[in-house]
Formats: sequence, structure tokens, C-alpha cells
Amino acid sequence: MSSKRKLGIGLIGTGFMGKAHALGFTIAARVFDLPFELDLVSVADVTVESAERARGQLGFRKATADWRELLTDPDIDIIDITTPNLLHKEMALAAIAHGKHVYCEKPLAPTVAECREMVEAAEKAGVVTQVGFNYLKNPLIFLAKDIIASGEIGEIRSMRGIHAEDFMADAQVPWGWRLNPASGGGALADIGSHIIASMRHLVGPIKQVLAETIIQIPERPVAAGSSETRAVEVDDITRAFVRFENGATGSFEASWIATGRKMQHDFEIYGSKGSIVFTQERLNEIRLYKIGDDIRTRGFRTIWAGPEHPPYGAFCVAPGHQIGFNDLKAIEVKEFLDAIAGGKSPSTDFREGYEVQKVLSATYQSAKTNEWVRI
Ligand SMILES: NC(=O)c1ccc[n+]([C@@H]2O[C@H](COP(=O)([O-])OP(=O)(O)OC[C@H]3O[C@@H](n4cnc5c(N)ncnc54)[C@H](O)[C@@H]3O)[C@@H](O)[C@H]2O)c1
Repeated sequence: MSSKRKLGIGLIGTGFMGKAHALGFTIAARVFDLPFELDLVSVADVTVESAERARGQLGFRKATADWRELLTDPDIDIIDITTPNLLHKEMALAAIAHGKHVYCEKPLAPTVAECREMVEAAEKAGVVTQVGFNYLKNPLIFLAKDIIASGEIGEIRSMRGIHAEDFMADAQVPWGWRLNPASGGGALADIGSHIIASMRHLVGPIKQVLAETIIQIPERPVAAGSSETRAVEVDDITRAFVRFENGATGSFEASWIATGRKMQHDFEIYGSKGSIVFTQERLNEIRLYKIGDDIRTRGFRTIWAGPEHPPYGAFCVAPGHQIGFNDLKAIEVKEFLDAIAGGKSPSTDFREGYEVQKVLSATYQSAKTNEWVRI
């Protein structure tokens, strides 16, 4: 029997991210020496059938159609929120009020004010929080951050970032929660929040933005196959120029209609002594250029993820064999659990979710006013 304290998990939402989080906990327990023994206690969804299906598939003990039941379950220490953005705040505040640690998907909430309320409540209650900015948990992104911090590529002058996918490219994709303006925005809030998090993580705080938002598909069917349509009010594409606090400049783009692009979370970072190039579609590779290299052979070198890039080695002893998306979730889980065990707060805690939201909000404001907006 394990001598470790048991930590109970209550998951809300069993869609794309619900499954990824459940896998994250399961994988983390298998590959890492975690500070706790994990107990997948209960899973909640809107119907008993969907919750029950997820319980069986994902390995939870109980299922419910009422997420509030998780709050009073004495076996649950963590409330894990993977529901649409609009629901994060109510669920997180209720969890915090019950003294639970909270793992919540991004974007933290639709507005800056709501995010601030969530941060303040969590910090006051002393609970640990984690937000799903999983792309930052890649061992090669840890390497990129180390390279930048060491000064190896010199002073960082600029960063170009993009998060583009094509899941909304078909104009027949029907109305869904992602198109509800109350969710906090379109492509920028939904997937652009990831590239903003990466820019902040690697280069630092963003000072100002100048942006344009574009609605390319102005109406969509109210339901799959319906001829009735509803106007689209949120961005399909957003582009912005960026000025960082440290003097670097850059730009980002978010698009969910980038035909053919499945996961283009990409960036290029240019320093005075070198550059780093990354694409999430090849998440086990990063490219590095250094001006100090022999001029005859100088060029971008490709570095493959391997055990020398922690925590890759926990997943696989052999380099180049590759880790995947759900493994990034497992690393995110590990960081969260280490913080609950007394370690430092995750780099992507609620406060960071709030900081990202400030950039999102300033970007939307800039697109309205056509002016630079200070964060
Ligand atoms: N980190 C990432 O890479 C990533 C990727 C996709 C989505 N997300 C985020 O994850 C969240 C969910 O997105 P998704 O793609 O998993 O959506 P989804 O539609 O696939 O899943 C949402 C789930 O929440 C459930 N739900 C809705 N209302 C509920 C309620 N009142 N009680 C209990 N369950 C309820 C739905 O039934 C569904 O199971 C969003 O905030 C989204 O922005 C993050």
C-alpha cells in the first residue's frame, strides 16, 4: 500500500479537454514519482448518460449530472474545470469557497474583471491554481526559456507568434459556445490566448498592442445542417503588433479558419546573437541559430527532444522517440501537484491567466479604437 497521501480529483466536463485532463492525471501517475497517490473520484457533465460514459472510459469512481455535488464530496481535493469559458468563473469560485485546489482550462474567464475576482479569491483562500496553457509545458519550450535566460542568443529583439487552426474554416460549421460573444471573443480568446501566453513566457510582459480583428464568415447555421443562420459577432482572425516591456517588439496572429493548419502554434524569436524557431506541429523539435557558429556551416540546427530535456526522460529513455499532446497535460498536472505539495505556484496559475486576459482585452479594445492600447 502507498504511504503517500491520497489526493482526490473531481472533473467537470467530459469533452475534448475533459478527456485530456483525465489522461493527464493518469499518465502523470504512471511516469512521475508524484507527491500524492491520485484518486479519480467523480466526474460531472450535463447529463447522467454523458457523465456515466466518461466515468467508465476515463476511470472515475462516480458520475453525476450536478457538478455542485463535487464541491461537498469529502474525498475531492481538486476541482478540475474543462467546461466552456463562460462557466469557469462560477465553478472556480464555488470550488475555492469549498477550499478546493482548482485546475481550470484557458481562457480563465471572458473578462479581466472576472479573472481578477478569481485570482483574488484563490489567493485569499490559499488554494493552488493551474490554467491549461499546456504548450508551455513542452520540454523543448523549457529548453528555449533556458537558452534565452542564459543569454546564449543575446538580447531578445523580437518575436513573431501565431496560433492557427482550421476547425472553423468550413462556413457550414454550426453555431456553438465558441461563437457566443459572452465567451470572451472568438479565435483570439479561444486559441490566441495560447500564443499570448507563450510570448509572455519566453520574452516577458507585453506593454502595448495595436490590433485588427476580422469576421470572415459573417453567419453560420444555427445547428448542423440547418438552413437557418445566425450572425457571427466574434473574430475569425486577429492580428496584432506588440511592444514588450523589455524593449523587444513583435506580432501575433490567431486564426481558426487557416485552411489546412491543424495546430500551428508557432513562433520565431530573434536575438542579437541567435534565434529560436518552433512549430507545435513538430513539437519534439526546436531549431536554434547561433551567430557564433563557424561561418562555413552556420545555419539553423534541429534539436530533437530527448532525456537531456527534462522531463522527457520520465516518458521515454530514448531521444527522438517523441512525446505527445496528452503528455504535455501530464507535465502540467505534475507542476500543479508539486505546488499542492508545497512547491512554488505553477508558472501558469490563475494570476498568469489574469495577465493573459489583460492582453486579450487590450487587443480587442485596440481593434475597436484602431489605436495602440497599453496593457
Ligand atoms: N488547453 C487546450 O489546449 C485547450 C484545447 C481545447 C479547449 N480548451 C478549453 O477547454 C474548455 C472546454 O473546451 P472543449 O474543447 O473541451 O469543449 P467541449 O465542448 O468538447 O467540452 C465541454 C464539456 O463541458 C460540458 N459541460 C457544459 N456545461 C456543463 C455544466 N453545466 N456542467 C457540467 N459539464 C458541462 C459539456 O457537456 C462537455 O462535455 C474551454 O475553456 C476551451 O477554451 C483548451
